[in-house]
Formats: sequence, structure tokens, C-alpha cells
Amino acid sequence: MNDGIRASSAERIATAMLARLAEAPVGSRLPSTRAIAAEFSASPVTVQRALRLLESRGRVEVRPGDGTFVLGQPAARPTDRSWQTASLPVPAAVLDPTPAALAEAPGDAIALHAGYPSGDLLPERLVRTALVRAARGRAALVRSSVAGDPGLRDWFAAELRRTAGAGSATPSAHDVMITAGSQAGLHAVIAAVAPGSPVVVESPTYWGALLALHSVGARVIPVPSGPSGPDPADVERAILSSGARVFYAQPTFANPSGVSWSASTRERVLQIVRQHGAFLLEDDWAHDFGIDAAARPLAATDDSGHIVYLRSLTKVVSPAIRVAAVVARGPVRDRILARLSAEAMYVSPLLQAAALDVVTSPGWQVHLRALPRLLRARRDQLIVSVRAGAPSAHITSVPGGGLNLWIQLPDGVSASAVTASARAGGLLLADGASWFPSEQPGQFLRLNYADSATDRYDEAARILAAAIEDARPTS
Ligand SMILES: Cc1ncc(COP(=O)(O)O)c(C=O)c1O
Repeated sequence: MNDGIRASSAERIATAMLARLAEAPVGSRLPSTRAIAAEFSASPVTVQRALRLLESRGRVEVRPGDGTFVLGQPAARPTDRSWQTASLPVPAAVLDPTPAALAEAPGDAIALHAGYPSGDLLPERLVRTALVRAARGRAALVRSSVAGDPGLRDWFAAELRRTAGAGSATPSAHDVMITAGSQAGLHAVIAAVAPGSPVVVESPTYWGALLALHSVGARVIPVPSGPSGPDPADVERAILSSGARVFYAQPTFANPSGVSWSASTRERVLQIVRQHGAFLLEDDWAHDFGIDAAARPLAATDDSGHIVYLRSLTKVVSPAIRVAAVVARGPVRDRILARLSAEAMYVSPLLQAAALDVVTSPGWQVHLRALPRLLRARRDQLIVSVRAGAPSAHITSVPGGGLNLWIQLPDGVSASAVTASARAGGLLLADGASWFPSEQPGQFLRLNYADSATDRYDEAARILAAAIEDARPTS
């Protein structure tokens, strides 16, 4: 039995036993591991795992050689910590520290809610080899400069140069700063360029950007984004009316919608930010997840310092290797570096060394060449399953890259009701509300096609269809 199956069976046994524990007297001994294994037709290893799960939740105590004993329920008396409300500053918005897209998936649920690819889409062998090599080398015992490892910075700069056409800008390693994932980079950039200031964003946009904006007291100014990106006239109006000097955007394979800006939108937005002395924060999160086309960052065509560019390796190398880069030119670069220094000092050299090892190994190019085919198969299968099994879930557009389908629900059907009902049926979905900075023009769900196997997409679509029917308003 592999580890994943064992973990989900252990979760199932633990859940079944929880109900029993509620009835059992405190201090009583549970049946032996062997007896529980026989009852659930599981191996003793799986049962021990289930018991450890119950122990970690404070429901049993495992005394080796003696048995497993029922613990009491947590104290009934609630603890009063209300004083903190008066002592903490009044928040501009209540921030959700655990967004739906990061929720843990229980046991055998079908997980379409998450934002990261599953293990079979990662270069596992390269990652493991790189980590071992990094642990054996200098990187295990030294610190890094704040800006990061010179070799890795060079690699990010060369990547951007590679996508630039002839005569285009040429960022150097000096312009590159390594961050612990692009979320940390995004936060540092926003804190450096727009604390307490208006910032224009697309609507919908990445929830983590909204979290970072709110956490530094920025005022979020939404502009709607359609099938070819935002209307540049809306962007200009928003900049003029709010006085914003920053536009956070995802021109390529946007999360959640999958949309890429048209060539004319890219050109016009670049003109607008130049004309108004503004920064464009270009979040190129899905750079390596092109399916029908490759990503072409705007930052590759600009050396005027108007574009601050973010690119991450966490999704394409490994979620455990939190390494990303911010590319910025001019005085803003030093402001961002100061924020990074204040926030985290530097990124672990071990992770930086491992990341560089992976992306410079010969197997990396082989991995990248295989990705579009794998992602296309998953994207297309999920589209087929949803269209056939849940036709009332409207796929807003076929994404040319990225990891997600953006679904609009029928009028009157609430995404939170659908999400709750689907969850009860074993399907995890992300409620689109997290991606909206203000009022939603409809009810949406985000379905990730990179984190679960295609053989369960038909089942997922059936659960989704039933959840939509459950959530239809009764007239
Ligand atoms: C648009 C976008 N930007 C940034 C991030 C942050 O990614 P990480 O911090 O893992 O690099 C994500 C993650 O989902 C994302 O979707």
C-alpha cells in the first residue's frame, strides 16, 4: 500500500473512531490495534497512523506497551481573550489568514480547490537530487546576501532576456532579488511602493495580492477584466481618479480566469503607466504553465523602470522550494531590497542552491517540454467532464495556460452554497468570492485541473451538478 492510500485510510478510520470516542468513558482503553485492524480490514500500520492522528487532535493518549486511552473533551469553559479586540489596531478589512485555496484536503476528497500542482507534475527526481546536493555543499552552512545567490539572480535575469525580442531591454542580475515565494515578493513590493496608497487591480484578481494590499493599508481600486484583459480606458480612468501610481496585474494566464491580455491591451497599458508615472506590478505566476502559447512577459519589453516583475519557481519546481524573484530597476529596486531585508533578511541558501540546481540541470528542459501536454490533457478532460456532467456550470473561457478553469454559476445560485454542498459530497471547490476586491458581477467557482487525477473528473462534475441543483433558489 502506498503512503497516500495509507494516509487516506488512516483518516477514514480516525473519523469513524471519533464518533465512538464521544460515547466512550474518559480513561477507558481502546481495543487493540489488531482488533481495530480486523474491524476496518486495514493493516496495523494504517491503524497506528489513525491512532496517531487522534492523538495529535488531543482525543486519545497512546501509551506504548500499555494501550490507547480515551482523553476527555477539551475544557467546556471558554477562554476570554476579548481584550485583544480593544488592543489591536482597527483593521481596514478583516483578513482571512487561511484562504480556501490553501485548505487541507481530507482523505479521499477530489481536490479542485487548490492552487499548486500535484506531485506527478513536478520534477521530483531533479528536486530530490538537488536537495541532497545542496545539503552536502557549502549552502548548508552559510548565509546569503539579501538580494540572493548571484548565480540564481543571473538565471532569472537571463530568463527574462531570453523572452525579450531583438533590441529589447536587458535586465541584469543586479536588478533581480530572490524572495521566499512570490507572495513574499509581492508583499515586499507593495509595502515598498504603495503603503496606505491607492492601488489599481484587475477584478477578479489573485486573493494573495488582495491580502498583501490590505495588510499594508493600500486602498484597492478595482477595474473589471474581460476575455482580453482590462479595458485600458478603465485603467487610465482609475489611475486618474484615484491618484494611484501602481497597477497590480497578471497579463498572462491570470489567476483565476486564465485570461491573457490582447497585444493591443498590453501595448496601451504600458503607454498609460509610462504616461502617468506609474508602476505596473507584473505577476508572471504561470510563466511555465503555457498550454496553447508560451508566456511573453511585458517586463521583457521595458527598461524604463515602470514594470516591477515577479516570477516564481514554487509551483513549477516544488511548493517546498519557496524561491521566486522580483525584478526591478532604478530607485524602486533599493526600496524593495530594504523591505526584504526588514521582513526576512534573506532566503535560505539551501533552497536557493537547490532551485538553481534544478533549473540548470539537463532534465529541466525535458520536464518543461512535457508540461504543456500534461496540462492540456487535464484541462481538456476537465472541460469535457464539466460540459457533459454539469452543463449549467458555465466555463467562462478556455485558458491558454495556467492551472484553473473559471466557472460562472447560474443566476441566483450562490457559490458558497455550492461549495459547501460539494464539500459534503467529497468535492473541494474554491468559492470565487476570494478573488473579488469588491462586489461580484456574478457567482463564480475556480476549478484547478493540476492537483487531482483526471480519472475522477466525471465524478467531480456529477457532484458539482448535484450541488448546483441543491443550491438553486426555491421559487
Ligand atoms: C497570481 C499569483 N501570484 C502569486 C502567487 C504566490 O505564489 P508563491 O508564493 O507560491 O510563489 C500565487 C499563488 O497561488 C498566484 O496565484
